[in-house]
Amino acid sequence: MITLAISKGRMQDDALALLASAGVRLSSESLASRRLAIEDEEKAYRFIFVKPADVPVYVEHGIADCGVVGRDVLMESGADLLLPLDLGIARCRLVVAATNPNALTSGFGMLRVATKYVNVATTHFGGRGVPVEIIPLSGSVELAPALGLADVIVDLVETGRTLRENGLVVVEDIAESTGCLVVNRASYQLKATAVSKLTKALNQAASRIVTL
Ligand code: PRP
Repeated sequence: MITLAISKGRMQDDALALLASAGVRLSSESLASRRLAIEDEEKAYRFIFVKPADVPVYVEHGIADCGVVGRDVLMESGADLLLPLDLGIARCRLVVAATNPNALTSGFGMLRVATKYVNVATTHFGGRGVPVEIIPLSGSVELAPALGLADVIVDLVETGRTLRENGLVVVEDIAESTGCLVVNRASYQLKATAVSKLTKALNQAASRIVTL
């Protein structure tokens, strides 16, 4: 049996739909339950549902053989994982946003950056030689500029609605993010047949979605 860690939240529905399209059958009773670990009907897969940032942790430690997680989370985590497949689901962007459209050019001294993506933000601004003070937050990051905690935020944008409704605009793009399949290095060797079967099935399902 292969264990797959699935990101809870925005990725979960897309990941389950893709798995269904790849032929993985989950009972409606399992899907409706609040259980955080379920098996498919053929008992070929066990799924564990964890916070996005924990997916790379479970996979790197081999508790899960594979994971479905956003590229944004992988960029932040730096975990040592194999990344055989971009699934093309849950497409969104990592951006710098601010209330002031000129926030990146108008200030003096340190730029205060509020974010959940501390490593991404440090690398992004460090690479441009912009001096920053990173202010780590764990959610509702869009509040920080309006309340004076930060000059800009680094966060995920999907529809743009959260930014708009909190008076923020995108001032810089950092990267696009989509859901990816990641695999533990040892599982890739030791469970090669099963991992390859899953990868091929997901690849076919993902390309069907792209061509629809
Ligand atoms: C993300 C992100 C934004 C929001 C953007 O939060 O941090 O707050 O989604 O989506 P939108 O562009 O469609 O409005 P998420 O819902 O993943 O939860 P979080 O608050 O835990 O970060």
